[in-house]
Amino acid sequence: MCGIIGYIGKKNAFPILLSGLKKLEYRGYDSFGFFILGKNNDFLLKKTGKISEYKNKSQKNIKGNLGIGHTRWATTGAVTDANAHPHFDCQKNIFVVHNGIIENYKKLKEKLISEGHKFSSETDSEVIAHLIEKHFQNNLEEAVRKTLKKLRGTYGIAVISKKDPEKLVAAKLGSPLLLGINHNEFLVASDPSAIVSHTRQVITLDDNEIAVISPNDFFILKEKPIEKIEWKIEEAEKKEFSHFMLKEIFEIPESIEKSIAGRIIPDKGLVKLGGLEEVLDRLKKIEKITLIGCGTAQHAAQVGEYMFEEYIGLPIKTEISSEFRYKKPILDEKTAVLAISQSGETADTLEAIKEAKRKKCLTLGIVNAVGSSIARETDAGVYNRIGPEIGVAATKSFISQLCILVLITVALGRQREMDLVTGKKILNELQKLPELAKKTLEQADKIKELAEKYSEYKNFFFLGRKYNYPIALEGALKLKEIAWKIHAEGMPAGEIKHGQLALIDENFPTVCLCPYDSVYDKMKNAIEEIKARKGLVIAITTEKNQEIKNLADDVIYIPKTLEMLTPILAAIPLHLFAAYLGLELGLDIDKPRNLAKSVTVE
Ligand code: F6R
Repeated sequence: MCGIIGYIGKKNAFPILLSGLKKLEYRGYDSFGFFILGKNNDFLLKKTGKISEYKNKSQKNIKGNLGIGHTRWATTGAVTDANAHPHFDCQKNIFVVHNGIIENYKKLKEKLISEGHKFSSETDSEVIAHLIEKHFQNNLEEAVRKTLKKLRGTYGIAVISKKDPEKLVAAKLGSPLLLGINHNEFLVASDPSAIVSHTRQVITLDDNEIAVISPNDFFILKEKPIEKIEWKIEEAEKKEFSHFMLKEIFEIPESIEKSIAGRIIPDKGLVKLGGLEEVLDRLKKIEKITLIGCGTAQHAAQVGEYMFEEYIGLPIKTEISSEFRYKKPILDEKTAVLAISQSGETADTLEAIKEAKRKKCLTLGIVNAVGSSIARETDAGVYNRIGPEIGVAATKSFISQLCILVLITVALGRQREMDLVTGKKILNELQKLPELAKKTLEQADKIKELAEKYSEYKNFFFLGRKYNYPIALEGALKLKEIAWKIHAEGMPAGEIKHGQLALIDENFPTVCLCPYDSVYDKMKNAIEEIKARKGLVIAITTEKNQEIKNLADDVIYIPKTLEMLTPILAAIPLHLFAAYLGLELGLDIDKPRNLAKSVTVE
């Protein structure tokens, strides 16, 4: 914590900086300093002690309309006059005040010293002045821009250069900074208390913004951070697989690992999602959540609804993106709208986010494609980090979306009522999923045989309840999409007796999702109802379950896991079933008829 202030205008800067800095003293009070670019003489002061106790008898002689000030709370370097800010370059042309920590300062300092720079303090902050000196040609903001690219850590800075004297440059990343605007004068400060006596008109600078301020005007440069594409070239190749869809299904265990890696603090039952950190406080105040998406992503949203409702304790809604914006949904700043999209370019979802923003909601995303429109449009979000998905059907991205929804459930649940034991248990089981997914995939040959066996049938039902109801929808969608000569319908198992049962006979197979969970008995009833009408049943159930094996015509087993995680495992055989059935029917499973990977039209 430190406080910084800067002034540029027509008035004498020193008294304004002095009174402003006194207001910032709570941010640090072991030393302080000023630099005033004078009309005749400059004034530089770096001093240990409290700004509130500072008395300057010859204040009247300090004259200049441009200056910066700092009050320090020491981090790097002892409390000495030399370590107080402002810091300057070798030629004493550039003066900088800094709030934050430059994590890579040692390396930068060593390099600058080897290039001949002379340092006069032990601080991390001084490297900023020397880097600006190094990059300075004739324009201060350009030198600052180049300097900021080299820094790792956090900063709020204000900079003055004698060589570009009509300018104050300020920038921030992770440390607060405001620009105060008044008639013919501007101030920058770490918080409003320092400037409110001069102006109430402020612009809060965002991370990576650089304010370039002259006595009469200002402009703000946005420095876009460079994002790294983590994909490797091999990830966009089929390798030993005949189709991307198969390759991507077999990549699921690895995708689960990538989705959760580094995001779990197991002993604390906590989750660390860097992309949500900036909005954590706002998330605490959220009173309801709406999840949106299209197609498979919307099925992920529906599973998320069950997870969030059970563990976060807020009203949760799921909407289809393309319906959401035309429904006049009741939303406000206490609503978070979480958009799920692999491509990050789905037009319906993008437009829905814009609608949510117009209604002042907090917008969040779960997105795979780094830097995509949805990633940029949302206030915050979590990347899937699973590499490219090339098959048109969403497979590994769906599983990854579910895993991230589990992480968000714990992140938000632990902010509210979820206890340590529950948090730990969910995360512990989540970490086992890569292995359990591998085990599920070991049944690929069996699933292939079933695809052959059932390839003559023209219609399928997919039934599930609770967490696996959206998986029934997903199984049906995948079959229609990939083995498009077949018609399929997914529905909640409790519904069939209200109509659909009329269709069941020996020519109408049903895939029943029936793991051991809180609705197991109800699902068993549905299977019995179908069998009583001579319907064929393929059941997905928990390993070793003999009861369902005896009831159903065919069984695919998934390993035992927590109820909320069963959809993650249950979806895998359904994706494989669709892929093998599509191949059995001689179809191109990577490029199903009439479809495209990224749907950028409404
Ligand atoms: C189905 C499928 C689609 C997408 C949907 C949303 O297998 O891939 O239903 O899930 O078009 O796409 P994204 O996730 O890119 O927004």
